[in-house]
Amino acid sequence: MGDIEHLFEPRGVAVIGASNSPGKIGYKILHNILECGYKGKVYPVNPKGGEILGCKAYRKAEDIEGPVDVAIISVPAKFALEAVEDCARKGVKYIPLITSGFSEIGEIELEMEIVKTAKQAGMRILGPNIFGIYSSRSSLNGTFGPKDIKPGHVAIITQSGALGIAMIGKTAVENIGLSTMVSVGNKCDIDESDLLDYLIEDEQTKVIMMYIEGVSKGSRFISTLKRATKVKPVVVIKSGRSERGAQAAASHTGSLAGSDDIFDSVMKQCGVLRAESIKTAFNWCKFLANAPEPPGRNVIIITNGGGIGVMATDACEKFGIHLYDDPEATKRIFGPVTPDFGSTKNPVDLTGGASSEDYIGALKAAATNPDIHGAIGLYCETALFDAKGLTSAIRQSHEMFAHNGKPLVFSSLGGKTIQDGIDELGKEGVPVFEDVYEAVECLGAVFRTKEHKKKMESFYPEILTNSTIITETIGGAMYDGRNFLLADEAKKLLESSGIQMPKSMVAKDLAQAVSAAEDIGYPVVMKVVSRDILHKSDAGGVVLDLQNRNEVIDAWEGIMMSCKRYDPSTRITGIEVCEMVKKGVETIVGARRDPSFGPIVMFGMGGIYVEVLKDVAFRALPLTRAEAIGLIKETKAYPLLLGVRGEDKKDIDTVVETILQVGALLQSTSLITDIEINPLVVYDQGQGGRAVDGRILLSSKEVKE
Ligand code: ACO
Repeated sequence: MGDIEHLFEPRGVAVIGASNSPGKIGYKILHNILECGYKGKVYPVNPKGGEILGCKAYRKAEDIEGPVDVAIISVPAKFALEAVEDCARKGVKYIPLITSGFSEIGEIELEMEIVKTAKQAGMRILGPNIFGIYSSRSSLNGTFGPKDIKPGHVAIITQSGALGIAMIGKTAVENIGLSTMVSVGNKCDIDESDLLDYLIEDEQTKVIMMYIEGVSKGSRFISTLKRATKVKPVVVIKSGRSERGAQAAASHTGSLAGSDDIFDSVMKQCGVLRAESIKTAFNWCKFLANAPEPPGRNVIIITNGGGIGVMATDACEKFGIHLYDDPEATKRIFGPVTPDFGSTKNPVDLTGGASSEDYIGALKAAATNPDIHGAIGLYCETALFDAKGLTSAIRQSHEMFAHNGKPLVFSSLGGKTIQDGIDELGKEGVPVFEDVYEAVECLGAVFRTKEHKKKMESFYPEILTNSTIITETIGGAMYDGRNFLLADEAKKLLESSGIQMPKSMVAKDLAQAVSAAEDIGYPVVMKVVSRDILHKSDAGGVVLDLQNRNEVIDAWEGIMMSCKRYDPSTRITGIEVCEMVKKGVETIVGARRDPSFGPIVMFGMGGIYVEVLKDVAFRALPLTRAEAIGLIKETKAYPLLLGVRGEDKKDIDTVVETILQVGALLQSTSLITDIEINPLVVYDQGQGGRAVDGRILLSSKEVKE
C-alpha cells in the first residue's frame, strides 16, 4: 500500500497558490481547510509572502519548517512544474494538482514532465484537473467545493470534477456522511486502484462509490476491485454506454464486444453494484452504509395494501430477493398480529384499517423471528392512521431490526404529511422511500453484496497449453506474412490446448480426400483451406453432410470451381475433410484483448445468428471456475444447456473447460489477439461437445499487458 495514508491523514498541508482574493480557487481551498477543522498544520504558499487568511504565507514550499505531506497546487499550468520542483525540494509526499490545462486539452508533454519530476523525488500526483480531496479522518476539506461536508462512512472517488463538487452538495442534502471524497481528474499518476488500496483497509469507510468515465490499467483495477468487494460494497456509476468504444474487428467477439457490455460484465465478475443513476447510487450507498448484513435470505413484506404488496413482490423478483414462502410458519408468526380479514401469507396484509400499533406488532414479530432475515415495510396513506404515528412506528421498527442484526426498508406513499415524515426520518438516517422499487432495489443491493462475498473463490485453475506447437504454428503463419491462422493451424492449437475438435484431415488431392473420408467415417463435411478466403461459405467453400465416396468426389470438384469463380487469384492449399458433427446446443466461445481490461473471454448463444441475437457476456482473465459458470449463467444459452421441455441437461462442464482453455491459449502468447469457436456444439451431460469452427487472429506486434 506504500504510504498513501499520508494523503488522507497528512501531518501538514501546503496550499501553493493560496491567495487573499476571495474569487480565486487558492483562496477557497485554504478557507475550506481552515474552516473545516483540519487537525494538522496549514501553510499558504505565495511568492508575495505576508499573511493569507490569518496564516503566515511562505514564498516557497521549501521555506516551510514543519513536515508537509500534502501540497495542494493551484497555480496556472505554466507555473505548475516550477511549483512541483519546489515541493520536491521540500520533501512533500503527495500533490493534489488542481490546475487544468494538461492532457485533457492535449498538453501531454507538460503533464509527463511533472510526473517524471515527482517520481524522481518520490512524490505522487493526484490529478491534475481536480477539485481536491476531502478526508474525514483528518477533517481535511482540501477542495474548492462546499464548506460543509458531513463526516460518515461513504467514500466517493470521482473522475468528473464538476459532478464531484455537485455530489458534495447533494450528500449534504441527502444526509449522507462521507469518509472521503477524491477527485482523480486526468489520473496521470494516482488512479482508482491506488485509492481503493487505502479504502479497503480504512475502517471508517463502509461503502465505496465511484464515478468512472474510462478505465486504464484494467487488469490491476480488476484485481483491486475483487479484493475490495470481499470486504465492503462497491457502487459504480459509469458514463458512456454508447457503442463508440467498440473496436472494429474481424471476429464476432470483437464486433460483439461493445465497451460498455464488457464493462458491465466485468463489474458483475468483480461483485460491483453498478448504478444507472446518481440517485440510485446515493440510495444504495446510504442504505448499505447502515444496513446490517442479513443472517439468511428469507424476506417478509408487511403492507396495508394489496396493490403495493404485489408491486413489492414483483420488485423482489426483479432484484433477486427471496421471499419467505412458508404459509404455515407465517400464519403462526403473524396470525396473532393480523386482523381476521387480513392475510398472513407473504406479503402479510394488515389491511387498510391497520394502525401504527399493528405495524409495530407485525414488524416486531418479523424482527424477532429467527427464520426471517429481512423485511420490507409498505404503507399506503389512509385516513385511519396519523402520519406522526407512522413516523414513530417506522423509527421504532428500524431500531428493532438494527438491534436484531437484520435489514429493514420502508416505502410509504401518500400526501404532504407522508412526505414530511419521509424527510424527517431521512434526516435521522432511517431509510424510507416513496417509491417501492427504489426501496426494494436497496434491499436487493444488500443481498447481492452478501451473495457475492459468499461465492467468491480465488483459485485460478492451471490449464496447460503446448508452447512448442503454439510457437511453431504462429511462427510459420508470421513467416508467411499472415495475421490469421489457417483452419488446420487453428485446429492444431485448439486441440493442443485440450479443446474437443471434430476429427479431420487436410487433403491435398482428391484421392487423399476420399481416403480421409473413409477413415473418419460418413457423413463428412468438406471445407476449403486457403489463406485468401476468410469467410468460406461466401466463396462456396463448404459442403455438408456427404454420405459416400461419390458425394465426396462431387464436393471436391464443386468447391474447387466455386472458389476459383469467387476469386480466380485464390490460392488453395487443400480441402479439409471433417467429421460431420451431430446436432446439439450451439454456443460461441471467444477470447480477445480489450483495450481497457486486457485479455477477456466471451460466451453466448452461437451459430449463424450470433450477431443478431447478441446473447453474449464477458469476463476478464484470469478466471476461476465459479466465474466461468457465472459467465454461462448470465446468458440465455444457460436455460438451453439445462435442457428445455424434457430435454436432457447438456454438458456444462465441457463449456466451462472450453472457456478456460480458450482463455489459457490467449494468455499463453501475446501474439494472439482473437480466438473464436463458433459454434461450440454441446451434447448431453457426459458426452462433451465439439468445437466445430475455430478462428485465431494474430497480432503484428507483441502486445504489452
Ligand atoms: N507558487 C505559489 N504561488 C504562486 C505561484 C507559485 N509558483 N505562481 C503564482 N502564484 C500565485 C499567484 O500570484 C496568485 O496569487 P495572488 O492572488 O496573490 O496573486 C495565485 O498563485 C494564483 O495564481 P493566479 O495566476 O491568480 O491563478 P488563478 O487562481 O486565477 O488560477 C488555477 C489558477 C485555478 C489553478 C487555474 O489555472 C486553473 O487551472 N483553473 C481550473 C481549475 C479546475 O477547474 N480544476 C478542475 C476542477 S474539477 C471541475 O471541473 C470543477
